Amino acid sequence: MNTKILDATESNENVQIAADVIRAGGLVAFPTETVYGLGCDAFNAEAARKVYAAKGRPSDNPMIVHIARASDIGALTPQISTDFVRLADTFWPGPLTMVLRKKAEVPDVTTGGLSTVAVRLPDDPVALALIRAADCPVAAPSANLSGGPSPTKAEHVIRDLSGRVDVILTGFDSRIGIESTVLDLTSDIPTILRPGILANYQLAAILGREVIYDPALLAGRTLDGTPKAPGMKYEHYAPKAQMLVVAGEQDKVRAEIERLKGLNERLGSAVGVILFEERAYVEAAHDFYARLRALDGEGVDLILAGALNDTDSVGFAVMNRMLKSAGYKVVNV
Ligand code: TXA
Ligand code: MG
Repeated sequence: MNTKILDATESNENVQIAADVIRAGGLVAFPTETVYGLGCDAFNAEAARKVYAAKGRPSDNPMIVHIARASDIGALTPQISTDFVRLADTFWPGPLTMVLRKKAEVPDVTTGGLSTVAVRLPDDPVALALIRAADCPVAAPSANLSGGPSPTKAEHVIRDLSGRVDVILTGFDSRIGIESTVLDLTSDIPTILRPGILANYQLAAILGREVIYDPALLAGRTLDGTPKAPGMKYEHYAPKAQMLVVAGEQDKVRAEIERLKGLNERLGSAVGVILFEERAYVEAAHDFYARLRALDGEGVDLILAGALNDTDSVGFAVMNRMLKSAGYKVVNV
C-alpha cells in the first residue's frame, strides 16, 4: 500500500483529503494530545477490521471512538447519565475516555465484541478538524504496531505504519505523551481501567463520589515483579531492547543503575538509561515513549529505567507503562 504523508499544519486541504479517506472506509493516522491514533469510520466494520490488521492487534482488544462534539455521543450510547455529563463538561476536550453501554449500531468489531463503547473527545486541533470533516465518529487505537511503544511524534508513526495505512496526517508532537485515562461508567462504582494524567481523585471531585482503580492496576503498584492480572502477561509498549526497572529511593536507584550499566557494558552490551528527575512526573509522561524509541534507534541491548515513586497520580500512570514495557522485570534496591 502506498501511504500518503500529509502535513495538517500546512493546509486545511490535507485534513479534507484525510477525512475523505475515512469516509471512504480507509485508514488515517492522526495526532492527538495524548498519543497519535490510527483512525477509521467507527460505524464501518470492514474499516475497523483493517485497523486491527494494520497494527497486528488482537481483535478482542476494543478501540476508543473519538468524537468532535459532546453532542455526537447520542449516536453511540443510550447511556447519557449525570456522571457522564459532569465529566464531559469538565474534562472534554481532553485525555478522558469514558466506557458506556453501546448502541446496537456500533459494530462489534469496533468494540472487540463488548456490549460497551469507549468514547473520547480529544484536545488537538488537527484531530478535531479531521473528525469534524469526516462527519462520523472515528475509532482509533494508538498508531503503533501492536506491542510496541505508543507514538508521540509523526516520525514514530511514519516508522511503524508506512505501507500499512492510507494516510498519515502529521501535526504537532503529543503534548501529554501517554494515553488517556479510561473510566468505566457502566459499573456501580466508576472504575479506572487504565490510568492516565487524570487521576481518580480529580474525577471523584467532580462526581461527588468515589472513583476507584481497577484492582488489577493496583497489583502493579507492589513493584514486586509478579504479574497478577491476566492482561499483564501480554507484551505492551515494549522496546526492542531488554528492559529492567530499578525501584527504590532515588539515590539508591541511581547508584544501582550506574552499577548495572558498568557491569553490562563490561560484558559487551550497549546500555541505555531512562532516569527522570524526582517528582518530574509530567515530564516523564511526555518523554517516556519517545525515550524508548530513541534508545531502540540507537540500537541499545539493555534499557535500565528508574521507577517513579508515585502511587496515585501522573507518576503512577507512567509506572503502569514502564512496568509493562519491561515485562514486569523489576529489581528493588
Ligand atoms: O489517548 C488515547 O486513549 C489514545 C488516543 C489515540 O486517543 N488511544 C488509545 O487507544 O490509547 P488504544 O486502543 O491503544 O487503547 C484503548 C484502551 C485499551 O486499553 C482498551 O482495552 C480500552 O481502551 N477500551 C476500549 N474500549 C473499551 C471498552 N468498551 N471497555 C473497556 N475498555 C475499553
Ligand atoms: Mg495502544
